[in-house]
Amino acid sequence: MFNEDLKFATDQLHAVGFLELDVDPTLDLVGEINALKKQKNAIILAHYYQTGDIQDVADYLGDSLGLAQQAAKTEADLILFAGVHFMAETAKILNPSKKVLLPDLKAGCSLADSAPAALFAKFKEEHPEHLVISYINCTAEIKAMSDIICTSSNAVKIVESLPKDQPILFAPDKNLGAWINKTTGRNMTLWDGSCMVHEIFSLEKITALMHEHPDAEFIAHPECEAELLELAHYIGSTTALLNYTQKSAAQKFIVGTETGIMHQMELASPDKTFIPAPPTNNCACNDCPHMKRNTLEKVYLALKYEQPELLMDENLRMAALKPMQRMLDLSASFGL
Ligand code: 13P
Ligand code: SF4
Repeated sequence: MFNEDLKFATDQLHAVGFLELDVDPTLDLVGEINALKKQKNAIILAHYYQTGDIQDVADYLGDSLGLAQQAAKTEADLILFAGVHFMAETAKILNPSKKVLLPDLKAGCSLADSAPAALFAKFKEEHPEHLVISYINCTAEIKAMSDIICTSSNAVKIVESLPKDQPILFAPDKNLGAWINKTTGRNMTLWDGSCMVHEIFSLEKITALMHEHPDAEFIAHPECEAELLELAHYIGSTTALLNYTQKSAAQKFIVGTETGIMHQMELASPDKTFIPAPPTNNCACNDCPHMKRNTLEKVYLALKYEQPELLMDENLRMAALKPMQRMLDLSASFGL
C-alpha cells in the first residue's frame, strides 16, 4: 500500500511540476506561507521533530496526541501537516471533508513500516481473545484492525482503564509496549516493531556522557530500548519531555529523543543546556530522516499548489476512525 502511495505521490508531484520547481532563494518564505495560510484559511500542524524553521511557522506544535486533538477540532478549510505520513493520515481520518496536505508524501516512518497489514491481520487472527491497542505510529490499515489507538502520552492510562484480566495485543512498538507492561504490571503481547531513531542510541556513550556531566538529567522517550529507559531520570512523550525540562531544577539535560524537540526546549529554557543523546555511530541518526524530508520550501509549495494531498479510501477511513475516536474520548475522560 505504501509503495502505491509513493508512486501516486511522485505522479502527483510531476503533475504539478514540484520535481522541476525551484523556489526563488530571495523569496520571503515565512511571509509567503503566512499570507497563503490567511488567504486559504489553512492551518499548519507540526510535530516537534520538524526543523526549527517549520516549527516557527506552525499554528500548532505538539506531540501525537495534541496534534490529533487539534486536527479533530480545527475549523480551517485546509490542513498542512508538517510531520510524517501516518500523522497526515490521522488528520484525514478525523477530517474527511478537509483537504490534508503533507509537504513530502515520502515522509514515512520505520515504526509504521514494521507492521505490514497482511502480517498483522494474521497475528490478530492467532490471538482471537485479545483486544488490540495500536500506537498511533502505524498505518491507517493497522488502525482499522485495532480496538483502541494510543499515543505515548495516554498509553499507560488507556491500558490501566481496562480490566486486569483482559488479554491485549500491542502494536507496533515493542519498546513502548515493554515500558507500558513494566509501568502497569500487565503482560500485553507485543508486536516486534521499533523506531529506527530511538533504537540507535548508544547505552555506552550515554553512560559516559552521564559520568562526564553528573549534574545533567537524562530524559528519554518510551520508544527507546529498556536498558536505556532504566538509566532515565524522566520518561515521557515529546510534550511531556519538553514540560519536564521547564519545571525540573536541573540546568542540563541529555535528550534521548529526536533532536527537533531541542528547538522548543532551548526556546523555553534559554539558560539551560541540552545535549543530544549520542547514537551508536557517527552519523546524525537521531535525526529522523522521514521527518526531515519536509523543508520550508516544500511547505510553501504545498500550500501554494495544495499538493501533495493525502487521500484515503472512505471505508478504510471509517474503520480507522472508530479506534481513533475511542482514544480521543478516553483521553478527554482522563482530562488529557
Ligand atoms: P510523540 O510526540 O507523541 O511523543 O511521538 C514521538 C514520535 O516518534 C513521533 O513520530
Ligand atoms: Fe517514525 Fe521514529 Fe521517525 Fe517517529 S522518529 S516518525 S517513530 S521513524
